[in-house]
Amino acid sequence: MEHAGSIKLTTFLTEKQIQEKVRSIGAALSDRFRGKDVVAVCVLKGSFMFYADLIREMDIDIACEFCGLSSYHGGLRSTGEVRLTLDLNSPVRDRHVILIEDIVDTGLTMNFLKAHVEARKPKSITTAALLLKPHALKVECPLDHVGFEIPNDFVVGYGLDYQGYYRNLPYVAQIQSIN
Ligand code: IMP
Repeated sequence: MEHAGSIKLTTFLTEKQIQEKVRSIGAALSDRFRGKDVVAVCVLKGSFMFYADLIREMDIDIACEFCGLSSYHGGLRSTGEVRLTLDLNSPVRDRHVILIEDIVDTGLTMNFLKAHVEARKPKSITTAALLLKPHALKVECPLDHVGFEIPNDFVVGYGLDYQGYYRNLPYVAQIQSIN
């Protein structure tokens, strides 16, 4: 697939690999939270696809919430500045919160979100990220569930974008070249 005739992509994780991983994280979360008051938070925009697949693998009652955070502004590198663009709509006090992220790169976004939610006194916070770039971390960012650890290269697809494009790919791809 090409955008503006200039970008080449190579598949990095197939749909099948992703779905298997999503299934196992969904099963683990279901076991852990069965019978509890759970709020699953989708971190927009990048997590929408992972989130939609993951919550469908969870056979327990969950409340769905959405928040928006922005740090990349469409480029290849993080600005290091995290902004809240959409806040949660329901109280999370004394509830179990699961934060569902597409990718943890520097760790700044996840830490910002954790602190933001922590201030609202939830009963617990659990983190799940489909992708982690361990070598890109700039801050400590312990995660409860990680789908795949990946190299420090820019990836797109399965919710992740480059300049707003490629989110709709059902797989994860690396950008091979930008001419
Ligand atoms: P962090 O704050 O540096 O951990 O970055 C988190 C956010 O940056 C993610 O939620 C993504 O939106 C974006 N991001 C980080 N790495 C990539 C990438 O390789 N492709 C697309 N977006 C990325």
